Amino acid sequence: MTAKRMTTKLEQFLLDHTTSEDSVLEDLYRQTHIRFVNPNMATGHLQGKLLEFISYMIRPENILEIGTFTGYSAICLARGMKKGGKLITIELNDELTAFARSYFCRAGVESKITQLTGKAQDIIPSLNQIYDLVYIDGDKREYSEYYQLVIDKVKPGGFILADNVIWGGKALDEETNDPQSLGIITFNMMIKKDSTIEKVIIPLRDGLMLIRKKN
Ligand SMILES: C[S@@+](CC[C@H](N)C(=O)[O-])C[C@H]1O[C@@H](n2cnc3c(N)ncnc32)[C@H](O)[C@@H]1O
Repeated sequence: MTAKRMTTKLEQFLLDHTTSEDSVLEDLYRQTHIRFVNPNMATGHLQGKLLEFISYMIRPENILEIGTFTGYSAICLARGMKKGGKLITIELNDELTAFARSYFCRAGVESKITQLTGKAQDIIPSLNQIYDLVYIDGDKREYSEYYQLVIDKVKPGGFILADNVIWGGKALDEETNDPQSLGIITFNMMIKKDSTIEKVIIPLRDGLMLIRKKN
């Protein structure tokens, strides 16, 4: 069996043994693919379900997300929050705001989610909140900047999740030198060297880094 066929079979197995995507997320994913460029940026079913599970396990009161895109991951994370919890999601592209909002409403999580439009690096310093969970999924060149801006806003024992840390395998390739891959490689090295945090990578989809800030 070729590696590609094996991946397809494994993916199908994972999907077959994971709770089905609900109709709102299914439609959001489909419409994202019809209407927007780079639709593969949307989190998608398996990782979305994992994010929802992590959120349910932590039961966060305050979540910060960097990179809303069309809102898939925000909905998944919002579902697991403690009653009364709040999620702030930051997105640079203002053309996505209304579309994402319409799906927050359809998913019934609109009262839990605040959308902020602009550059995360400009917005984060003005946020006066301590977060239980931060999800980093913005520009790959900027991951280290995001991390340095949010780490003091994560509560001791709190979590940061960072998506795409395998970056299609380019993070493992010493010859890689494009800016996005270098951004991920620099971020991964910074996390590796930081002894104030615990970390582990889940190799689902494009690699999800789980980080826990030590008490
Ligand atoms: C990979 S997508 C996010 C996917 C989203 N989490 C989901 O589940 O569908 C990355 C998004 O980050 C946004 N972005 C890039 N740089 C940013 C920045 N500096 N501040 C805020 N958003 C940024 C992009 O416009 C893009 O929509």
